[in-house]
Amino acid sequence: MGIEIKNFSYKYPLEDKNVLENLNLKIETGEFWAIVGKNGSGKTTFCNALRRFVPDFYKGEVTGKIVIDGKNLKDFNPKELVTKVGFVFQNPFTQISGVKDTVFEEIAYGLENLAVEKEKIIKRVNETLKLLEIEHLKDKNPQEMSGGQKQRVALASIIVMDPEILVIDEPTSQLDPKGTQDIFKIINIMAKKGKTIILVEHKLELIAEYAEKIVVLDEGKIILSGDKKEILNNRLLEEKGIGMPQYSKLAYELIKVGKAKFEEIPITKGKTVELLKK
Ligand SMILES: Nc1ncnc2c1ncn2[C@@H]1O[C@H](COP(=O)(O)OP(=O)(O)OP(=O)(O)O)[C@@H](O)[C@H]1O
Ligand SMILES: [Mg+2]
Repeated sequence: MGIEIKNFSYKYPLEDKNVLENLNLKIETGEFWAIVGKNGSGKTTFCNALRRFVPDFYKGEVTGKIVIDGKNLKDFNPKELVTKVGFVFQNPFTQISGVKDTVFEEIAYGLENLAVEKEKIIKRVNETLKLLEIEHLKDKNPQEMSGGQKQRVALASIIVMDPEILVIDEPTSQLDPKGTQDIFKIINIMAKKGKTIILVEHKLELIAEYAEKIVVLDEGKIILSGDKKEILNNRLLEEKGIGMPQYSKLAYELIKVGKAKFEEIPITKGKTVELLKK
């Protein structure tokens, strides 16, 4: 079971070119995928396709299909869809509902909409506040938080729904290095719980550390996909302006100047140190 994307193309209304072009990808349940690509390569549009905002909200033209756990995405009813696919926006300011006065209520909002009983809501919101280490924010007005705090609350409001698939679009854009690490730890906890994770993130060193599989988008096309160890050290990434983890760059550089030999091009710090010791 999982997500199957088959010959999927999409064109925004009034545009003459497809923004996603013949995508094919199989994501197994429980896998942790990262999507990388330059600005404008179609990452957010792809994420929106996975929760059917493309085309339901944006309209435009779709060809091909997305099948989740054997069922065509277009046949999911709205309630099924929100419990199946949780989506964290690229911009946390758009995720905050604007109708709730406290962080606690904000996080409870989605469950309320699903008519979950009150006791259960309180329990789940408290657990989520704890998991994200934002208990101290629970009485704060969501509008009066920093970008980083909003980003955490946005993530909390999705995690609380306990969806099987988490689609997370650049969750660390507002965060400092510590905040970024914290978010990755939380995403990693979700991955360990067996959630399917689809994460858009530019910080390749962190992806190398945490994700399992990588899909590379370039001008709306998948140019590479597969195991992170085979993708992140591919020089095509640099050619396409996406970059490479600094450890892979270092290894290529050391090889070039004849200072070291590597059995494989490492993508993480740990592996680089291990290989240099040999
Ligand atoms: N609502 C829209 N209508 C028409 N074109 C759009 C719309 N939203 C995005 N696009 C175009 O689609 C392309 C892909 O945009 P998208 O936001 O998916 O890229 P991205 O990879 O997420 O970029 P970033 O890294 O900057 O977030 C861009 O060329 C963009 O201009
Ligand atoms: Mg984007």
